[in-house]
This record gives sequence, structure tokens and C-alpha cells, in this order.
Amino acid sequence: MNELKCNTQYIGRQYVWLEKTDSTNNMLKRLISDNTTVEEQYAYGNLVECEPKDGMMIIADHQEAGKGRTGRSWESPAGTSLAISVLLRPQISDDSISMVTLIAALAVSEAVRKVCDIVPDIKWPNDIVINGRKVCGILTELDITDGVKSLIVGVGINVNQNLFPEEIADKATSIMNEAGRLIDREELMQHFAEALEYYYEKFLKTGDMSGLLDEYNGKLINMNREVKVLDPSENIEGIARGIDSMGKLLVETEDGEIHHIYAGEVSVRGLYGYV
Ligand code: BTN
Repeated sequence: MNELKCNTQYIGRQYVWLEKTDSTNNMLKRLISDNTTVEEQYAYGNLVECEPKDGMMIIADHQEAGKGRTGRSWESPAGTSLAISVLLRPQISDDSISMVTLIAALAVSEAVRKVCDIVPDIKWPNDIVINGRKVCGILTELDITDGVKSLIVGVGINVNQNLFPEEIADKATSIMNEAGRLIDREELMQHFAEALEYYYEKFLKTGDMSGLLDEYNGKLINMNREVKVLDPSENIEGIARGIDSMGKLLVETEDGEIHHIYAGEVSVRGLYGYV
């Protein structure tokens, strides 16, 4: 098993690094809910006998049924990618939950900077992008078991992949492809855990993005670009003007009105392509 030595108080101090599972988000959910049977965990060779605590991480080299946003699937090829789920139990209102995705995006960006000196952009709300191509996606899910709310922050990183399926080949990349060398996944994981704790603690002080606005907006690839917001209720086109302190994307439409877009089920596209 790969070893993780995080210089943190609680994030990643408790972890399980698996060769494979169905989905690390699902695995963490099974661990949280009391009705997990030993057989269910053995199905993937993943017997974990522990009480999951705040900051626990499930990491997998490979997922057989990785989940993306809006019902899509997520590919995590064996040994070259990282699939991570982090358990967080913040005392925050449901409205604030989507901000945790933005916090995780900042942490991935910082971890990539630490390992290879490239500063990735963030495509609101949940994609990390290098040279206009996606290297990471984030899926945050809420679990409520026996009245206890748990956030499951699922992070999929393309670390050392060389080739991508045809349908995403023009918009996906890996850190290796952009850095021009193999990336040490343990080192990346450690930096991610440390950066996540740093940003999460800063976020918890105010319960919003106010202390991180400038840093987030500085990395926002959508900033001052034309965007199309694909919302289940209505689509909006306009210019992205950054995020507000609640993590909503500000979109200025032609009539000068500023719309505050809540992340929820929304996707954002550039008017002429992915960014
Ligand atoms: C997206 O961009 O659509 C989000 C992708 C999130 C993928 C990660 S990989 C770890 C965790 N487990 C899952 O099944 N999904 C998330």
C-alpha cells in the first residue's frame, strides 16, 4: 500500500489507499452508514474496520464505477490517476456546502503548483485546468446518516495518463503531459491534504469565501470571458465577473444585470468551447 505522510492536524491523518474500488465516494458512504456489511467491502478486497473521522481520506489507484457530475461517469485508469474522497463534517448551512468544492479546487491547484511549478486555472465550479484542458474534476456529495451530516468531497486527478478516450481527447490532459515528466502521486497527495487543510480552515473561520476571494478569482479561467450557464431551469449567456463571497458565479448579461449563479447542478461553458 502507498504511504501518505501528511503534515496536517486531521486531513489525511486517517486514510486507506486501495488498489481499486467501485467509487471512492461510494466506498466512503458505505463506511459512514452503519449498515455496511463486511461482504460488501470484501467485494473489492477493501475490508476497512474503522470509525471514519473528520478528514478521513479514501484513495484509489483505480475505480470501476467512478462518478462524475450530473450523472456522468469518471474514468480513473489504474496507477496513472488518483481518485480521492475526503470526509468533512463542517458545521455550516446547506447553502454553504457548494463552497467546499471551491475550497478543494484551490487545494488541487496549490498541490499541482508544489509538485511541478505549474499554476493551474480553475473553471468554476469544479474543474482544474492547465493550458485550457481539464486535469481534475470534483464531485461533492452530502450524506445524512442518523442525523449526522457528512460531506464527501470526491476529487479525480489525471496525474500520469498519456492518452484519453476520443470523446474527451480535445479537452482533457494530465499533469504529466503538461509538466513533461512523471509526477509522484504520493507527493501530490501529501501536498493536496496539506493545502486542503489550509484552505478549509480559512473557510471555516468565516463560513464563506470572503477570505479567499482574491485568490480564487485570480485563478478563475472564466474571469471576464463570455460564458454560457447551463442550468436545468434556464440558460444564461453573459460575461463572468468572478465569484461572490458565497461562491456564486457573477454573470453580467447584455442588459447590465448581474446574475448570481449557484453551483448546484449548473455547468458553465465558454461560448465557443470548453473554457
Ligand atoms: C466531474 O468533473 O464530473 C467530477 C468528477 C469527480 C471524480 C471523483 S474521482 C473520486 C470520487 N469518486 C467518484 O466516484 N467520483 C469522484
